[in-house]
Order: sequence, then C-alpha cells, then structure tokens
Amino acid sequence: MHFVSDNQSGLHPAVLKALAEAATGTAAGYGEDALSAAAEAAVQDIFETRCAVFFVTTGTAANALALSALCPPWGAIYCHKGSHAQNDENTAVELYTGGARLVGIDGEQGKPALEQMRAHIETAKIHGVHNARPGAVSLSNVTESGTVYTPGELAAYRALADEHQLHVHVDGARFANAVVSTGATPAELTWGAGVDCLSFGLTKNGGMAAEAVVIFNERVAEQFEYRRKRAGHLWSKHRYLSAQWLALLEDDVWLKNARHANDMTQRLAAGFYERAEIDVPWSVQANEIFPVIPGNIRLALRDEGLQFYDWPAKADMTRFITHFATTVSEVDAALAIIASA
Ligand SMILES: Cc1ncc(COP(=O)(O)O)c(C=O)c1O
Repeated sequence: MHFVSDNQSGLHPAVLKALAEAATGTAAGYGEDALSAAAEAAVQDIFETRCAVFFVTTGTAANALALSALCPPWGAIYCHKGSHAQNDENTAVELYTGGARLVGIDGEQGKPALEQMRAHIETAKIHGVHNARPGAVSLSNVTESGTVYTPGELAAYRALADEHQLHVHVDGARFANAVVSTGATPAELTWGAGVDCLSFGLTKNGGMAAEAVVIFNERVAEQFEYRRKRAGHLWSKHRYLSAQWLALLEDDVWLKNARHANDMTQRLAAGFYERAEIDVPWSVQANEIFPVIPGNIRLALRDEGLQFYDWPAKADMTRFITHFATTVSEVDAALAIIASA
C-alpha cells in the first residue's frame, strides 16, 4: 500500500515494449533520429501547434532550464511558497538562471494569491535596479496541494504578467492529471491561456525519464538547444527518451493512466470523508489528497503497512498519492485499515 509518490510506480508496459523495440539496430544520436522526430511531432499534435519540444530526464532540469530561458539572472520569479521549484529542487533554478530569485507567495490551495503577487511585483519595481527585476510567473498544474487551474484562472495570471511584461511558466509534472481533471484540452491549459512554456512530465505517469520543456513562444525557444546541451541533457541515445513519449501519447495512454490515478484518489477520498476524525482541507481534484490525521491514527496506519508522507504545510497533515498502477484492491485495503484504526 504505497501512497508516498507517483514516482514510486514502475514503467507502463507500453513504455517497456517501446524501449525494447528501440533497442535493436542503429540510429543517429543526439535527437537526430526518426523516433525523436516522431515524438516531437506527437507532442506538437496534442498541443495543436508547432511548439518547440525538448526532452530532458528530470523534472528539476525541465523547470530550471525553462526558467533560465524565461528570466534573466537579475530577475525575480513569482511562484507559490509551497512550489516544488522553491522547496524541492535545491538551488537548481538559481544555478541554471545564473542567480534569479524565486519569490514564494502565499495563497490558498497551492495557488499564489494574485493580489499578493501584484504587490510583490510593484514593490520590486519601486526599488528599480536595487531589487530583482520582475521576470516570470511560475505556476504548477497540478499544484503542490493537489488542486488544478482552469484555463480561466491561468489567464488571470497571464493578464497580470502582461501588465509587467513577464513570462508565464507552468510546472506540469502532473499535467496529464490536470488535463483529465479540468476536461480542458492541452492547448487550452497552455498557450490558449497565455502560457509561454510548460515543463511537461510523464515520468510520474508511466514513463522512466520522460520530461520535456515545451515552448510556445518562439523568442523563448531561440537558442534553448544550447541551454539543454550545456546542462548535459541532450542525451546521445536520445531515442530512448523519445520512445517513451511515443508509447505514452499513442492511443492516449497518458490520459488513461492519469484518469485511473485521479479515480483512485477519488476512491480514497470517499473513504476519508466518512471519518469524522480525519479532515481533508484541500479540494481533491487530481491524484493527490492531503488528509489531516491525528498522530495516534497515523501510527496505527503505518503499523499496518500503509506508506504515505507527513506533509509540512499544516500540523498532522499527510499526503497520499495514487498512480497508473494503483489498484482498487490496494485502495480498499487501505480504507479498511483506516476504518479500523
Ligand atoms: C510538482 C513537481 N515538479 C517537479 C518535480 C521534479 O521532478 P524530478 O524529481 O524528476 O526532478 C516533481 C517531482 O516530484 C514534482 O512533484
């Protein structure tokens, strides 16, 4: 009963098959092969536009490289104070941007409050050259609280960004779960809402090392290839990154996986909602739930073999995550233990 993270899951069989098929013969290196061209085209197809697509191997690299193209070394990047980029990527963003400052902003349910963001930007501008120059907004969809942004919500951040000539980035480590949850198209959740650049992750959704920087703004895409190479993310055997993408995008495997993961979290949620002693303060919209569970019950759950995170945002808060391979019986077994504890 592993509910710690979706990256504890294994590989989707389609990915393993695609890797095995790509394992024979020879192909050009560094992304010059046919599989890579096909995978980039498949990503463009789902976004319904000729975006620039750069496969990398970790979500941290995707975020840090993306932000390096969106914000100068003397700039500020406005994000939620609980964002992965700020809390879980060491100083990768600072390193890759050459020193840009992440400004963590408070806000309900993992979303930075717009008015607070505006106030930070305006204060920085008053200080002029003495403060970090406002450079980019970075949002996570799914958020670090398990909630999702609709296209309309994203557009509101875009409008603020436009007032101050900022770029907009989305950390989409769980983008598939947001697409399924909102019912919006990938295009509506990105360039349609004014997003310049998406870190698009499928590692948590059945891939092995399936992360991409997808750029919708031509000027931002210029010379990005050099950033990736310089960062050591232009794989020589690039086709093994690409093969994963083709396998997951074909027949909408990525969406089916995400739908299953979201459904499993809803099933878990239904069980938590029935327990008066357990509070679920944040909306459950994707494949993560953050129940507040008294300490004695948490101990009992762990004794019975349930694995989950303690989450630092609130006292007694925990995080449970489901993924493409989470089974109904695993969830039901967890709920039975929760009921008896
Ligand atoms: C929201 C979010 N963004 C980015 C990442 C970074 O991924 P990685 O661990 O591959 O660097 C994660 C990983 O947990 C994540 O949850």
